[in-house]
Amino acid sequence: MQQEFDKYSKNYAALLDDTLKITGSDTEFFATAKLKTLARLFPDWVEKPIRFLDFGCGNGTLFKRVRRFFPKAHYTGTDLSDAMVKEAQSIEGGKDAFFQMDSESWKQSTYDLIFIANVFHHVPHTEHQRILAELRPLLAQNGRIVLWEHNPLNPLTRKIVQDCEFDKDAVLIPAKTMKRRFIASGFSEVKIRYTTFFPKALRVLLPLESWLEWAPIGGQYIAIGQNSDQSPAT
Ligand SMILES: C[S@@+](CC[C@H](N)C(=O)[O-])C[C@H]1O[C@@H](n2cnc3c(N)ncnc32)[C@H](O)[C@@H]1O
Repeated sequence: MQQEFDKYSKNYAALLDDTLKITGSDTEFFATAKLKTLARLFPDWVEKPIRFLDFGCGNGTLFKRVRRFFPKAHYTGTDLSDAMVKEAQSIEGGKDAFFQMDSESWKQSTYDLIFIANVFHHVPHTEHQRILAELRPLLAQNGRIVLWEHNPLNPLTRKIVQDCEFDKDAVLIPAKTMKRRFIASGFSEVKIRYTTFFPKALRVLLPLESWLEWAPIGGQYIAIGQNSDQSPAT
């Protein structure tokens, strides 16, 4: 079935760069910032062969950079858009890393990290809980689900979303709502951390983000959870 993002598989980064001009940042900066934040939140994983699922991976933005921060990670990506997956598979090393959403290959493993970035605002809200509940058994013991979303409380974020061509269908999700959905889907130890406070020009201030995580004015937030029901996971 044709999916909304199929038409952006070739020019996703260019369109995003254009939208992000207002912040003085770009796709590279935000993808790298996410990986830096992951490495800060989970330092024990940096040198471990963690199993990393990138759900809604797009055309491979994160994959291209993941080894710089998690050199031993076993990365798997999947996306609803077959065209995005095809594009990602064309990256060096991508053939064995990316799978279509309906493939059984990515569902047969469990993961230490299920990472979801900027996906759920494109998913009908009535679907959120179902998707989270389906992902939960794929989370290994002591694993984490880590979901990045735009913070609707931040005016610059709202402006960027409004101006972005591929965000026309976006419905932003308040952090508190996402937290409730995580809990209702069976995740435990659910936490919200606000992030993306500083543009590229102020990147020297990035280390301060760990002190600001409580402040609901960040451009984005991160929802983190664990699998409370360990029985189906390995
Ligand atoms: C804004 S892009 C983000 C891509 C990537 N995560 C990134 O940060 O570069 C949103 C992606 O979510 C995917 N998507 C939308 N609905 C989805 C769903 N129900 N399941 C999985 N992926 C979905 C789209 O196809 C698209 O590739």
